[in-house]
Amino acid sequence: MSSKTQENKLKAGLVGFGMIVDETYRPFFETVHETGLYQRNTGPIEISLEAVATRTGARAEKYLAERGEKVGGFQSFSGNNAIEQMVASGLDFACVASPDDRHFDSCKKVLESETHLIVEKPSVLKLQELDELTALAEENNVAAKIVYHKLLDPDHKKLRTLVHDDVLQHVNNGYCSLLEPKSISGSQFAQWITGRNPGTYVAVHYIKLIDFTFGGKLKTITASGQRGLVGEKYGPTWDSCQMRMVYEYDSGREAAFDIHTSWVTPDNFPGYVEQEVQFRFDNGLWNGHSRKRGVECTVEEKTPFTLKNSMNNHYNGTFVEPWGTCSQRGYGIEVIERFAREVAFIEHGGPSAERQQRLEEVRGLSYNDLSADRQTVAAVQALEAILEKHVQGEPDCVVRVNDKRGGLVLFSPGSSEAEVLYEGTV
Ligand SMILES: NC(=O)c1ccc[n+]([C@@H]2O[C@H](COP(=O)([O-])OP(=O)(O)OC[C@H]3O[C@@H](n4cnc5c(N)ncnc54)[C@H](O)[C@@H]3O)[C@@H](O)[C@H]2O)c1
Repeated sequence: MSSKTQENKLKAGLVGFGMIVDETYRPFFETVHETGLYQRNTGPIEISLEAVATRTGARAEKYLAERGEKVGGFQSFSGNNAIEQMVASGLDFACVASPDDRHFDSCKKVLESETHLIVEKPSVLKLQELDELTALAEENNVAAKIVYHKLLDPDHKKLRTLVHDDVLQHVNNGYCSLLEPKSISGSQFAQWITGRNPGTYVAVHYIKLIDFTFGGKLKTITASGQRGLVGEKYGPTWDSCQMRMVYEYDSGREAAFDIHTSWVTPDNFPGYVEQEVQFRFDNGLWNGHSRKRGVECTVEEKTPFTLKNSMNNHYNGTFVEPWGTCSQRGYGIEVIERFAREVAFIEHGGPSAERQQRLEEVRGLSYNDLSADRQTVAAVQALEAILEKHVQGEPDCVVRVNDKRGGLVLFSPGSSEAEVLYEGTV
């Protein structure tokens, strides 16, 4: 047990209280407050949400007033020192669910306070930041993890299982797409959308899926995008994004993957959120489609606005269970519970003298460990740099990985000069 950890208990904090909290963290904390967490090597563990840090406190306090008893109440901190105040309440772990470009500062403060961390995707936007956070996790003897819930989607797990078992052999190429409705860019994220792009926001799910499922070495990243709906046509805010990654495998053979994303699809399109993947192997083909696997439902005056036509009941759904109780469950929530189990195992899974061993075991899980996120962060950093160059009037740049000039190197068409984005090896 760490010095602040209490017997059979884990105290948690949460940074941010927006859309993703409502979909996954809130149901996780409500359920675990009611049921506790059990695994044989830890026995029953109580998990309590102690403190929440947000920009204004408005949404957290509204929740506290309306249904705070579901989690046993918590302290709400807002403003500039909210995270410092949150970690001062003596937490075992903290979840960071603030906007994409604000993760790094929050994560730093969490790790510096010797608190286990789980951060929403994309973890951070630069390898330099990743290096700093992994070093902080080491120094402070805690785990630093990322939420990649799509790796827990049964369809993606089956894909990986077939690749792992060598049933599907050598991927040659593939594409992924994820389409969000306009309401996401227009209202939900209005406060932080300027300068952002849907690629970093959601292509990262597929970057990680490809990286984790097929392994290999990332070699090249290219990207393009369109503007003019969310922001100015020559401005820094992107409507849609297309990126390509090239990988090389131990065999010396290569594969290319295209990932298309948008957050300006009409609000009434039936697919919200539509996700599609296709991977082509030497001996097979894998097609996955969020709508084709699912249900299609129409209810007058409700779909597709308050009820989705093609709801993803695997990700996160509210149900009346056959035995009569109400629940909210799915892989989006399961991934957070799994992290809590990992923290419980570190802190309560055996003798204190063996805590470090347990921590190392948990750090070895490459599906969610920050130290295993290098190629994913490299792809995100490259995408951001290519789009930034585009805004500056230099479209069509290419980023090469582990080039002789550096770990991440950007080339502009027509220029003989290379720009090193990251010096170390990716
Ligand atoms: N895993 C997924 O599928 C998924 C889906 C949606 C969002 N996300 C990720 O979750 C994160 C949050 O997205 P969201 O949809 O909840 O956004 P949101 O805009 O709905 O909510 C953001 C929250 O962060 C808070 N916040 C903003 N700046 C802050 C700061 N500096 N310090 C503390 N809190 C701050 C806001 O008060 C708000 O509560 C993003 O990184 C996003 O990429 C993941």
